Amino acid sequence: METFYLEEPSLRRKNEAIEFINEFYEYNSDINGTGGLQRFLDNYEGWLEKLEDDYNRIPDEVRVPARTYFLIRSNDNKIVGMINIRLALNENLKKFGGNIGYCIRPTERGKGYNKINLYLGLKVCKKHEIKEVLLDADKDNPASWKTMEALGGINTREYFDDENSHCIVKDYKINVNESIEKYSSEYEDKIEHITLRNYKDNDYNYVYEVKKNAYKEYVIQYWNEWNEEDQKKYFENFINSVKENSYIIQYDNMDIGFYNGNIIETGNYEIGNICIIPEYQNKGIGTKIIKDIITLYKKNDIELQCFKTNPVKKLYERLGFRVYKETDFHYKMKKVKEGV
Ligand SMILES: CC(C)(COP(=O)(O)OP(=O)(O)OC[C@H]1O[C@@H](n2cnc3c(N)ncnc32)[C@H](O)[C@@H]1OP(=O)(O)O)[C@@H](O)C(=O)NCCC(=O)NCCS
Repeated sequence: METFYLEEPSLRRKNEAIEFINEFYEYNSDINGTGGLQRFLDNYEGWLEKLEDDYNRIPDEVRVPARTYFLIRSNDNKIVGMINIRLALNENLKKFGGNIGYCIRPTERGKGYNKINLYLGLKVCKKHEIKEVLLDADKDNPASWKTMEALGGINTREYFDDENSHCIVKDYKINVNESIEKYSSEYEDKIEHITLRNYKDNDYNYVYEVKKNAYKEYVIQYWNEWNEEDQKKYFENFINSVKENSYIIQYDNMDIGFYNGNIIETGNYEIGNICIIPEYQNKGIGTKIIKDIITLYKKNDIELQCFKTNPVKKLYERLGFRVYKETDFHYKMKKVKEGV
């Protein structure tokens, strides 16, 4: 079964993202819903900065706050589409463009992917408490307006637009909550709920709190106290040394934890920390993340350590890790690579 998710653009997809846009040029296709990526092919880093500005923008008559995502097919980790969601509308957008723009790369069209793209986009809208979205499409672009209709879009107007697209345009509106409720049975099992996004500097406080929540009890158990000042210093050194290999764990694009891991000098892969906030523990999320890591690094031995009293040891054992060393407070565990 194929599953999909929306991913916040980051540096690690630079080459793929450029290749994605080039495919549209190769097929002479319209480009829509990319947050302007096609204008930044020689400055991807600049585009990421622009997205950050879009994210935090105060709406005015020229620009509004927006989110841009890649639609990723989990099975082969490929960008198959993009979506751009305007979180507020100015008078211009109300007339033309609406809340959402999207695209599917030419070689992946006609497989129902855009319907999943829009469903996921509506879930983002719900998260931002948007009740109704406006959308439009050229009448001669049935793949677009049929997507809207497939998610319960109501055609509110059809008119000849002589300002922008110079053709007949169809306007739609979708009630966000009703659509999600009505179509969840069709799309929920096509969604990858648990995903990782790259750590960003403004995640600093969030990650500190997540780690504190996870480890404070053990620190007190073994060292008798939690000294906030020392811990903050320790954290600063820690995060600065691992941030390139750090991720925020998300559930439906909502932050629910922290993960870091990397290849170490011995060539082994080391799982540094995996912390999930309490409300999302015991739901199989940690298992899924570690299983994905095991698949990704199947050619490496994988190492980790845990506090001796942490019940998570059972989970690691279930996934094939074995204790190879003990220190005063920790078990060091290893899973030997496949075929050994
Ligand atoms: C519009 C676009 C995103 C649709 O992507 P897609 O992967 O083809 O869409 P899906 O496969 O999810 O199909 C969505 C609906 O359109 C229909 N459809 C797809 N291609 C079609 C075509 N060429 N002609 C008629 N209907 C078509 C599908 O049957 C489906 O409707 P259904 O549920 O009634 O069967 C894609 O064509 C694209 O990226 N175009 C360029 C950018 C663009 O125009 N964006 C929209 C601007 S408003």
